Amino acid sequence: MEELASILYTAEQIRERVRDLGGAITRDYAGREPVLISVLKGGAMFHADLLRAVDLETKVDFMSISSYGAGSSGVVRIVKDLDDDILNQDVILVEDIVDTGLTLSYLLGTLREREPASLEVCALLDKSARRITPLDIRYRGFDCPDRFVLGYGLDHDEYYRNLPFIVTVEDMAGLERDPLALAALLESAGERYR
Ligand code: PRP
Repeated sequence: MEELASILYTAEQIRERVRDLGGAITRDYAGREPVLISVLKGGAMFHADLLRAVDLETKVDFMSISSYGAGSSGVVRIVKDLDDDILNQDVILVEDIVDTGLTLSYLLGTLREREPASLEVCALLDKSARRITPLDIRYRGFDCPDRFVLGYGLDHDEYYRNLPFIVTVEDMAGLERDPLALAALLESAGERYR
């Protein structure tokens, strides 16, 4: 297991951080009804758990985006837009990971034009070492090392999103050759990291 992937955050560590973040949002937004927006697909699992940790009347909405061209240029296409207007709403954009920050920066710009009452970010993982665009992340789960990470919503070739924990991949070449190389190992490791 350790040669191919290593546990970075166990399910219990993630649960604790999600509880803390939900508690902070509950305190900060007392008396208000924030809209928690999930950016599909990776953020969906975190969004679902975070919602259950927020003890307020909340609203939810979803966005789906795709990057233009190869690599992260920061220009994204909105594949599925929000269902509802966010004018005068307190909006929290929920992301699984912020890497270069280009995606988030573009999304924040787009959402700001819709004139919400407030707009904040809640990200589970912050790969701050990779940041290109300065960003203010109000709620942050973990300062994540600059490694390839999988699990809890984060994928490789669409696999591994359903792991309840997060791993760093030690053998990227092996995973590229066989996208399911980690599946059996992580299945057997699963019980230990729940
Ligand atoms: C991830 C993440 C952000 C983006 C961050 O999405 O959810 O949207 O990358 O990268 P950046 O800070 O360098 O712009 P991804 O493209 O992996 O899509 P997915 O959520 O559908 O897996």
